[in-house]
Amino acid sequence: MPPPAGTGAGSASITGPLDIDPRTLERWRAETPGVRQRVHLNNAGAGLMPDPVVAAITGHLEREAQIGGYESAEEAAAEVGHAYEAVAALLGTQARNVALVENATVGFAQALSAFDLRPGDEIVTSRNDYISNQLAYLSLARRVGAVIRRADDLPEGGVDPDSVRELLRSPRARLLAITWVPTNSGLIQPVEALGGLAEEAGVPYLVDACQAAGQLPIDVARLRCDFLSATARKFLRGPRGIGFLYVSERALARGDFPLHLDMRGGQWLAPDSFALAPDARRFENWEFAYALVLGLGAAARYAAGVGIDIAGARARALAARLRTALTGLPGVRVLDHGRELAAIVTAEVAGWPAPQLVAALRARGINTSAAARDTAVIDMDAKRAATALRLSPSYYNTAAEVDAAVDALRSISG
Ligand SMILES: Cc1ncc(COP(=O)(O)O)c(C=O)c1O
Repeated sequence: MPPPAGTGAGSASITGPLDIDPRTLERWRAETPGVRQRVHLNNAGAGLMPDPVVAAITGHLEREAQIGGYESAEEAAAEVGHAYEAVAALLGTQARNVALVENATVGFAQALSAFDLRPGDEIVTSRNDYISNQLAYLSLARRVGAVIRRADDLPEGGVDPDSVRELLRSPRARLLAITWVPTNSGLIQPVEALGGLAEEAGVPYLVDACQAAGQLPIDVARLRCDFLSATARKFLRGPRGIGFLYVSERALARGDFPLHLDMRGGQWLAPDSFALAPDARRFENWEFAYALVLGLGAAARYAAGVGIDIAGARARALAARLRTALTGLPGVRVLDHGRELAAIVTAEVAGWPAPQLVAALRARGINTSAAARDTAVIDMDAKRAATALRLSPSYYNTAAEVDAAVDALRSISG
């Protein structure tokens, strides 16, 4: 059984977000059935869904079984519209700028495919971009001769904006693509400042906000991005199997559309001509898991109810507490570098491959995850780490749960 909510040892060093009204914390936890089963510190994998999200999904699945998949989607049309609005509100945009997609990677790939890169065209990115994004850049390099330009990091970690500025000066720079919060390093990249640089250089800007959604307030106008991709399932606490893509007015007006256009995104007018959907729908595929669409809508509304500022500040405070405690454990090396750190804590424990630690912690009811070198070869090699244990608290976690994970690690690693 997980320990009860509480402040535990060492809480005096971190004030503010951890000192939340206990009734609020109790309500969040009462609405999260998973906390009665596990200490869930794998929110960067998938957050625990709260009751309203589960109800939205299961309610729709039941209607599909009762009256049919297409018929229940028609019946739920208004609710589907509300889901777009809820996601738009989360991003500071309008429903017409939101495309719903199967996952964050699909959203990112749809956006990337809108750029007709030619041999020698440059993608400017970071050393910490997400593995699947790096693979997509490498694939474009191999298939079309695109050139990947990775900006330098600052000595303290995180991308160096001066290096990005320099790379964007190239006349061949066609795209700036940045992962806001990398999956494996607890880092927060300065995406707002980079948006200013991209705009100055006149280079389109694509942001991967997969680990940011639900953890950091997102305002696409401040980011000045052309596209932003994310998922429902992580800090936003929505279901698996659905994500979204923000498509700016600038991108729509340019006529951007994905390489593999689907019947949702285009209208076939004559044997050899088509028209694009006027809005972000042009980046969608026709077939949807409508239950998940409604679950995403419920998750976005739930997150707005909690407040992304509150959720993020508390999650990051819990992560800071974890980092401090882990730093004090013998044989443990905390791997997070950067000026600003997220609610993702990564560490290496001497003599323990991370997957073994994950299994040992799971046996004690504590959920964490492991990152292998090949999920982030540049970062992991720079840190000389073969694997990393990843702990990622959410606002509904307690300080006592975080302390329990540290205690368990202390006793496992001896
Ligand atoms: C930073 C980042 N970007 C993208 C993704 C991919 O998300 P999805 O699995 O929804 O495609 C992940 C998943 O962990 C991630 O951490």
